[in-house]
Amino acid sequence: MAMATPPSNSPSALGARKLPRDIEPVFIADADYLARTVDSPASESGPLFRLMFPRPGVEFSEQQKDEIIRWHAEGIKDAITGGRTYLRKIRHSDGTVVGLAGWVIEGCPEEQANLNRNRTAIKAKVGNKQKSNYWLPGTLDVSAWLKMSAALKKERHRTIGHLDNICRITIMSIRPEYQRQGLGSLLMQHICEDMDRHGRYGYVLASPAGVRLYSKFGFEAVGQRSRQVSPYSRRWRYGPKDGRRIGG
Ligand SMILES: CC(C)(COP(=O)(O)OP(=O)(O)OC[C@H]1O[C@@H](n2cnc3c(N)ncnc32)[C@H](O)[C@@H]1OP(=O)(O)O)[C@@H](O)C(=O)NCCC(=O)NCCS
Repeated sequence: MAMATPPSNSPSALGARKLPRDIEPVFIADADYLARTVDSPASESGPLFRLMFPRPGVEFSEQQKDEIIRWHAEGIKDAITGGRTYLRKIRHSDGTVVGLAGWVIEGCPEEQANLNRNRTAIKAKVGNKQKSNYWLPGTLDVSAWLKMSAALKKERHRTIGHLDNICRITIMSIRPEYQRQGLGSLLMQHICEDMDRHGRYGYVLASPAGVRLYSKFGFEAVGQRSRQVSPYSRRWRYGPKDGRRIGG
């Protein structure tokens, strides 16, 4: 797969195939909107958010909420400019953009070459202007966030660090008012078709809300990490070519 443009900005990133109707690439100009209407509100109900932004009995102010949304937007922009993440948004039949999915390919030299090309292409296009000065929202419990991130990363390395050609799903969010209408499934179908086409295995750290969705697409649990407020499970989807198993 040869590309000169960032994967997230290029419908041709998934080979020569056209994207399904209503599923579109994500651009930097989409980031603020997606963070405000999709990613931030969708993640608010999850255990990871509660761990990162603890607020026992206290409502966040509008300013604090805005700061969290801005942080999400920077994350989406960084994913685009990093050139490594495939990002897709999905549109409801009423025309509203209501969902976001992202994934990266681990352990694939061909993808690494694409990544290097993408980085060069993005640099040429946007220079360093889009590079965020890293900052953190004041409401973030930095210590809890770093601890959880390190633990999840360690588990990820233990589970897939020794394997090649893995599709790791990094973002899956549907705007709350549009959930349970099959849109998450459409995004998953899109990702899984790509996985199967390339003979890839799939991997995701599933939130409790995501477990049913991933199970529907053949993901099986290979482990679970339970913390007081963070029951995340690692899920693994076997590739189409063989039935190699990994330990949990
Ligand atoms: C998980 C999520 C992406 C699913 O999107 P969706 O558009 O609602 O999914 P679908 O309508 O295609 O439903 C897929 C399956 O998931 C189930 N599901 C959807 N939301 C769920 C929830 N909050 N809790 C439990 N199951 C849920 C549906 O019932 C359906 O299963 P079924 O077909 O057996 O009934 C969406 O709920 C979301 O954005 N949640 C918050 C963010 C999150 O947790 N993302 C996953 C991170 S790994």
